[in-house]
Amino acid sequence: MEYNIALVKGDGIGPEIVGNAVRVLEEIGRQYGHTFNFKSYLAGGCAIDACGTPLPQETIDGCLASDSVILGAVGGPKWDGLSGDLRPEKALLKLRSVLGLYTNLRPARLYQALREACPLKESTAEKGFDLLMVRELTGGIYFGERGYREGKFGPEAYDTEAYSELEIRRIARVAFEAAKKRGSKVTSIDKANVLDTSRLWRKIVHEVGMDYPTVECTDMLVDNAAMQLIRDPSQFDVVVTTNMFGDILSDEASQITGSIGLLPSASLGDGTRGMYEPIHGSAPDIAGTGKANPIATILSAAMMLRYSFDLQAEANKIETAVDAVLNAGWRTADIVGDSGVTPLTCDQMTDKIIEEMRK
Ligand code: IPM
Ligand code: MG
Repeated sequence: MEYNIALVKGDGIGPEIVGNAVRVLEEIGRQYGHTFNFKSYLAGGCAIDACGTPLPQETIDGCLASDSVILGAVGGPKWDGLSGDLRPEKALLKLRSVLGLYTNLRPARLYQALREACPLKESTAEKGFDLLMVRELTGGIYFGERGYREGKFGPEAYDTEAYSELEIRRIARVAFEAAKKRGSKVTSIDKANVLDTSRLWRKIVHEVGMDYPTVECTDMLVDNAAMQLIRDPSQFDVVVTTNMFGDILSDEASQITGSIGLLPSASLGDGTRGMYEPIHGSAPDIAGTGKANPIATILSAAMMLRYSFDLQAEANKIETAVDAVLNAGWRTADIVGDSGVTPLTCDQMTDKIIEEMRK
């Protein structure tokens, strides 16, 4: 088959990690007879520098015309002083919104080979964990009404959280469908003891849950969830939550896997086109040094094969190769820990994964 993929490499380590994901996809193409046509588009800080805007229309059109999008990361200190609408991050939010990608899937599991990199207590790490965070991606406080005004104590800024029943219902459905194919358990995370949006969230999630009698559904307050993720992450299967809570908790989930450099994500809407990106940022401090871990982006490419193109064997091939390389003891700088192993560079780690795929 032939697929057109838009590459939005972005800033910092974005170009290195996306370049390596492309190498892995080319290997898949060779082995399984697929053609991947790649076309690069600017977004983020590099687009601000080149075109004066974080998300040029050409990038929007290119992504809309593609079968799928792979994104590196955007942002960096160079653009930190810009106002909200001109910041590199705006590109990401707008892309998610114009592509209608309301679902963000962020799987986090503990690789047994990386147990020593896991900051959890040995007795907790021993149990392992394998959870899927389903984050709502185009609603909530990230997209609500905002501004500056004169308040009780003088000038103030405000952002508002709003969720419609429709937005909650469609993300809840994604979570229950996913749970049916996994451990049949959904934990819905909210702040229903304080927020009206959370009370509506809870009500609608329960309503959707009625259609899934075989899936167990539990509610958890977000502050408790932050604690439970560290106390015993093995209790979670599918977690569904709002845009902001999902943003925060997915970074926490990544840390307990050992490194944020390992976690992929898939952003999906109603069609098959998705946007696939590592959950980490642009890490400007290590850009160009070869220290970036390409695994999160390579696993994001595997998610693209699985979710957008329904190429299950091809996705498995990549995921199995990553497992094998980690089991064989190969490490990038972020996951060497105290192992004394000489870390591989971003390109070398990809070489190892490709070598493994050829076996
Ligand atoms: C993420 C990032 C983004 C988000 C930022 C860069 C806008 O943190 O994908 O988790 O908050 O969604
Ligand atoms: Mg984040």
